[in-house]
Formats: sequence, structure tokens, C-alpha cells
Amino acid sequence: MRDIEVLISEEEINRRILEIADLINKKYKDKELLVVGILKGAFVFMSDLIKRLNLSLEVDFMIVSSYSGTESTGNVNIIKDINKDITNKNVLIIEDIVDTGLTLFNVKKVLLDRNPNSIEICTLIDKKERRKVNLDADYVGFEIGNDFILGYGLDLDEKYRNLPYIGKMVE
Ligand code: IMP
Ligand code: MG
Repeated sequence: MRDIEVLISEEEINRRILEIADLINKKYKDKELLVVGILKGAFVFMSDLIKRLNLSLEVDFMIVSSYSGTESTGNVNIIKDINKDITNKNVLIIEDIVDTGLTLFNVKKVLLDRNPNSIEICTLIDKKERRKVNLDADYVGFEIGNDFILGYGLDLDEKYRNLPYIGKMVE
């Protein structure tokens, strides 16, 4: 394995998850919640986060691949959809990282068309500088710059998802 520099440690991630869980617990107190993870990247973060939610919640998953079309907003290909009807439901989308924002912009649009009561987005990492569309996450673990990062669910050519921290390759 090549050398990896730790950017966000396991302890920092765990601490931040508690803070975000606290916000989500307050927001959805006494409400039903459907937590939708975007595979594959979100599964590690989602697993740790939902263990800190004291809510009546269900989980589901989507697999999407985004491709840039001729439109500046691109488009999204739904490879696996959620199985549940979300009419009047409170939906919380969990993502590993928001980069250009194209993926979640389109996922949110698709889900909004199904008339949920509410949709919010929670991402572990936000690369805000790279945004190409108007898409804001409601809960953000960490904002980072332009580095390509890996670990804690995030991959480099499908590898490194199992690292317990977020890191980057040493040049
Ligand atoms: P977006 O549509 O550009 O926001 O794409 C976000 C997706 O790109 C994420 O779900 C990741 O799969 C991938 N991605 C973006 N930046 C990184 C990175 O630094 N490391 C690993 N995957 C990334
Ligand atoms: Mg992803």
C-alpha cells in the first residue's frame, strides 16, 4: 500500500458524528424519518451516524451514477432505487462527499417529485469550492478544499473504503 496521510482522524470523525446526531435528533424529535444512504460511499458514515440517532427511523439505499449531459446540471442514472413510497415522509439523504453537487442535485430533484413531506441532506465531507450547481447540504461533517481524499467509505478505484480515517495519498 502507498503511504497515506491522515487528514481527519477516527476520533475527530466520531466527535463530529455526535454533534451532527444531536442536531438531527432535535430536528426530528417525535417524527418519523427515512434515512436514505447513497451507495457505496455513504455506508460507513451512515452506519456510525444512525447508531447515534434516538429516533423512530427506517433505512433505505440508492445506487446512482451521475453523468454530465449537454445540460450544465448533468443527469443522474438510478441503478438501484429506494423500495419505499416517500409520499408525506421525512427523508434524510446521507452522502459521503458532495463535490460538484451534480449527483445530489439530481437525486434531490427525483425524490422531490415524489411529494415527500421534507428532504434534507447530510454529508460527511463538503468540497464547497468545487460546486457547479446550487446545492447545499443541511448537515456537513467537514469542509475541505480540493484534495482527493479516501477512507471511511470513500474510495480510490474501489479501494481504501475500509480505512477508519479520512486521508490522502502522499505525493
Ligand atoms: P458530485 O456529483 O460531483 O458531487 O459527486 C460526488 C461523488 O464523487 C461522491 O459521491 C464520490 O463518489 C465522488 N468523489 C468526489 N470527490 C471525491 C474524493 O475526494 N474522494 C473519493 N470520491 C470522491
Ligand atoms: Mg459517492
